[in-house]
Amino acid sequence: MSKKIFSGVQPTGNLHLGNYLGAIKNFVTLNNDNENKCIFCVVDLHAITVKQNPKELRNNIRETVATFIASGIDPKKSIIFNQSSVAAHAEAAWILSCVARMGWLNRMTQFKEKAGKDKEKASVGLYSYPVLMAADILLYDATHVPVGDDQKQHLELCRDIAQKFNNDFEVNNFLQVPEPLIQKEFSRIMSLKDGSKKMSKSELSDLSRINLTDNKDQIINKIKKAKTDPLLLPKSLKEIDERVEAKNLIGIYASLTNSTLDKSIENFAGKNFSEFKEKLSQVLVDKIEPISAEIKKLLADQEYLDQILLEGVEKANSIASKKIEGIKEIVGF
Ligand code: TYM
Repeated sequence: MSKKIFSGVQPTGNLHLGNYLGAIKNFVTLNNDNENKCIFCVVDLHAITVKQNPKELRNNIRETVATFIASGIDPKKSIIFNQSSVAAHAEAAWILSCVARMGWLNRMTQFKEKAGKDKEKASVGLYSYPVLMAADILLYDATHVPVGDDQKQHLELCRDIAQKFNNDFEVNNFLQVPEPLIQKEFSRIMSLKDGSKKMSKSELSDLSRINLTDNKDQIINKIKKAKTDPLLLPKSLKEIDERVEAKNLIGIYASLTNSTLDKSIENFAGKNFSEFKEKLSQVLVDKIEPISAEIKKLLADQEYLDQILLEGVEKANSIASKKIEGIKEIVGF
C-alpha cells in the first residue's frame, strides 16, 4: 500500500547514532520503496524553542540536509525542506493551538524533562512545541510518521488534535489521523555513559554519543570508553533486561547488522566485553565512517544543499498552502 510519509529532525547539531538508528535509517528504507511519497523536514522552528546561535543554526540546517542525503535519502524521490520557509506551518500551529487543550499539553513528558526544574523560565514555544509538530504532519495528510520511541506521546497528541478538529467542525476525515511508525526493537538508543538515559544531542559529554560526523578514531575511542558492567556478556534475553549498558550495546550491534537482539545475544553469549567491543567498533566504523565522509563532502558544496532546500520548499509549499486554505475556510476565515 502506498504511504504518505512525513517526519522531521531538529537542526540543533550533533546528529547522532540514536537519530540514525531510531529514525533516519527507517526514512531511507521508506524512501527506497517507490510506492511511498516521502517528505523529510528540517524543523528549524522547533529548534528555536531553546536558544540558538543564528550562525550555527544556519550551518546546522545545511548539515541536517547533508546528513539526510549522506545517509541515503534521495532528494529526487523525497521532498527535503526546512519548516520556516513554508509559512503554513506557523499558521496551522496557531489554529491548532486553539483546538488542543491545556490538559493534553500538561501531560507531555518531554516538556517536563526539557524544561527541568525551572518551568517558569522555559519558552512558551517549548511548551506548545507538540502542536507545531501536529501542524507539520497534518498539513501533508501524512498517513505514517516514522519516529523514535521518544516521540510517541507527541504523535498521540497529534491524533487527538486531528480528531477534535474533525469533530468540532464536523468535517469527517478532513485532517488525516496519522499512524506512528516506531520500530519494535532499537527505537530508543541509550547514552554510552549511562544505559538508563537516552542518547541525546544536548548531553554535555561527547563521549555519551556517536555523532554522525565522528571519524574512525573517535568512534573506536568512544566504544572503548563506553560504560559496561563487570560480568561476561549475557546468555539470554531475560538476563539482559537488568543490564542496561550491555543491552544498549548489543542492541546497537543488532540494529547495525540488521539482526535481532536475540540472535546477537546468542552470538556473544559468555564472551568478554573487550572482544565484543572490537566487533562493535568495526560495524560502527563500517556504517558511520562513509556517512561522516559524505556529510563533510556535501557541506563543502553549500550551493548544492541550498538548491535541494529551494526545490523542496517549492514542492512542500504547493501542498501545504492548499491545506491551510482548506483549514482557514473550515474555521470561518
Ligand atoms: P529530534 O530532532 O529530537 O530527533 C529526530 C528523530 O530522532 C529520534 N531520536 C532517537 N531515536 C532513538 N534513540 C534515541 N536516543 C533518539 N534520539 C532521537 C527521534 O525520535 C526523532 O524521530 N519533535 C521531533 C521533530 C519533529 C517531527 C515533526 C517528527 C518535528 N515535527 C513531525 C515527526 C513528525 C524532534 O524533536 O525530533
